[in-house]
Order: sequence, then C-alpha cells, then structure tokens
Amino acid sequence: MGFTAAVITVSDRGYNGQREDTSGPAVRKTVTEYGYEVLYETIVPDEAEAIRSALLLCADTQGIDLILTTGGTGFSPRDITPEVTKEVIEREAPGIPEQMRAKSMQITQRACLSRSVAGIRGESLIVNLPGSPKAAVENLSAVIEPLRHGLEMLQGGSADCADS
Ligand code: MTE
Repeated sequence: MGFTAAVITVSDRGYNGQREDTSGPAVRKTVTEYGYEVLYETIVPDEAEAIRSALLLCADTQGIDLILTTGGTGFSPRDITPEVTKEVIEREAPGIPEQMRAKSMQITQRACLSRSVAGIRGESLIVNLPGSPKAAVENLSAVIEPLRHGLEMLQGGSADCADS
C-alpha cells in the first residue's frame, strides 16, 4: 500500500528567509526513499496558530497519512511544536519518540533534549522530528520501518503483526 506524507518545517528563521531550509528537503528525501509520496511541504514560524493550521490542513483537509514536522522540539522559549501537536492529536503514540530518542542517544547525548511527540488524528499519524537536517534524518530513520505497519493498522488494512 502506498502512503502519502507531508513535511512541515517549523522555524522562524526558515520562514523569514534568514536561513535556507535544508531539513525539510532532507526529510522529504528520506521519506521518499521509503516509498511515501510527499504531497505537501511548507515552512511555518514557531507560532502556535501557524503550526496548528498546517497540521489540521494536512490531517483533516488533505487526509495525508504521515505528517512529519521538523524543528521546534528543543528548549528554546519559542520551541512549541510538541505542545501544539499534543493539542491536535487524539491518541498519543509514545513508543515512536521513545525509540527515536533511544537510537539517537547512541549518536549524541543531546538527543535527550528533543521533546518530540507523536500521535494519531483521524487516520493520520503526526511525528515531530528535531530541527537540524542531521537530527531530523537520524530520528526518522530510527522509526521509519515500523511506521508503515502502524499506518496499515490505523487505516484498517490487513496488517499482520506476526512477522516482527
Ligand atoms: N537527535 C539526533 N539523532 N541527532 C542530533 O544531532 N540533536 C539534539 C536533539 N536530537 C540531535 C538529536 C539537540 S542538540 C536538540 S536541542 C534537540 O534535538 C531539539 O532540536 P530542535 O530544537 O531543533 O527541534
């Protein structure tokens, strides 16, 4: 089954054109390599309303299967992506960020500073990734294999748990 994806870069500087967004394209490349069709990409500032609108557009209006955010998961005062994501999701999927952080801690101890969350809204799965291209791809790579099985279950397909 082919799934669709969205990539939402959350960055004040990216949005204002003060920094080139390299994280969005890096996430797009990785998810595309795993067979997802990226239907939507955007850059929004670290503002609750902008993040919320982008998430709702992707989930409710466009019905995108996997919605990836990159950025705004750290400790800076304007890092609010996880808080907005928690408002939007209906069911949390804590195992996804647990695994991202566990794998990432083998790369850098700073991985514990990412407050990313993941969860389900309707038939969409939303996953927060950190902001740097390296961190975003490392985190996504830690979970991308099992995500497909999760999406199959979420969408009522004949997902078979037996193999893993
Ligand atoms: N995870 C991996 N795999 N690799 C990294 O380099 N950087 C960390 C962390 N997670 C990192 C990582 C750092 S330094 C921070 S501050 C947090 O992600 C949050 O990043 P963000 O504020 O850009 O979202």
